[in-house]
Amino acid sequence: MVGARTAQTDHPLHDDIDNVVVSSEQIQERLQDIAAEIDLQYADRNVLLVGVLKGAFIVMADLARYLTVPVEFDFMAVSSYGSATQTSGVVRILKDLDLDIAGRHVLVVEDIVDSGLTLNYLLRNLRARGPASLEIMALLSKPDQIRVDLPIRYHGFQVPNVFVVGYGLDYAERYRHLPYVGTLKPSVYRD
Ligand code: PRP
Repeated sequence: MVGARTAQTDHPLHDDIDNVVVSSEQIQERLQDIAAEIDLQYADRNVLLVGVLKGAFIVMADLARYLTVPVEFDFMAVSSYGSATQTSGVVRILKDLDLDIAGRHVLVVEDIVDSGLTLNYLLRNLRARGPASLEIMALLSKPDQIRVDLPIRYHGFQVPNVFVVGYGLDYAERYRHLPYVGTLKPSVYRD
C-alpha cells in the first residue's frame, strides 16, 4: 500500500519553496466552511460549477468533494490579451462552456483574483447568457492589485502582492499540484 503524505514539508517540490503563505490545512478547513455555506445557499437547487482553467482545477476538485448538493461541472479556458505583466482586460475564450447556462444556477470557481479583469469580463459574458443566478467563488485574492469591483460571494484568503505558486497556481506550468500556496526561492528563477 502506498503511504499517504501528510506533512506539507514531505512534498518533493517543497525544497523550492521559500515561504508557505497559506497552508494545506488552512485551505482545506476554509473549503469545508465554504462548502457548508454553498450547501445552505443551494439547498433546493442544482448548481453548475464553472471552473476557469487551468488554475481552478485543483480548488474545484477539492471544493466539490465537500459539497452535498447536486453538482454539475463545466470549464472555460481563457487567456488575456496584453503583455505578461500588464493585462488589458480583454479576454479571449480559448474553450467555451459545453453546457447552455440559461436558467441555471452558476457558480464560477477561480483560484486567484489578481487585477480582477479576467473575472470582470467573464461575468459580463456569462450574464448575457441568462443564468438564473451567477456567483463567484475565489480561493485567493490580492487586494493590492484589484482594479475592479467584483461581487465575490465566497472567498478564501487574501494574499500579499507577491508571486505565489501551488494549489493550482504555476510558475512556467510547474508547482500547480503543491497542496499549499507559497513563494518560490529566488534561486528557482535563476536556474
Ligand atoms: C490566473 C487566474 C485567473 C487570472 C486572474 O490565470 O487563474 O484566471 O490569472 O488574473 P486577473 O484577476 O488579473 O485577471 P492565468 O492567466 O495565470 O492562467 P492559468 O490559470 O492557466 O495559470
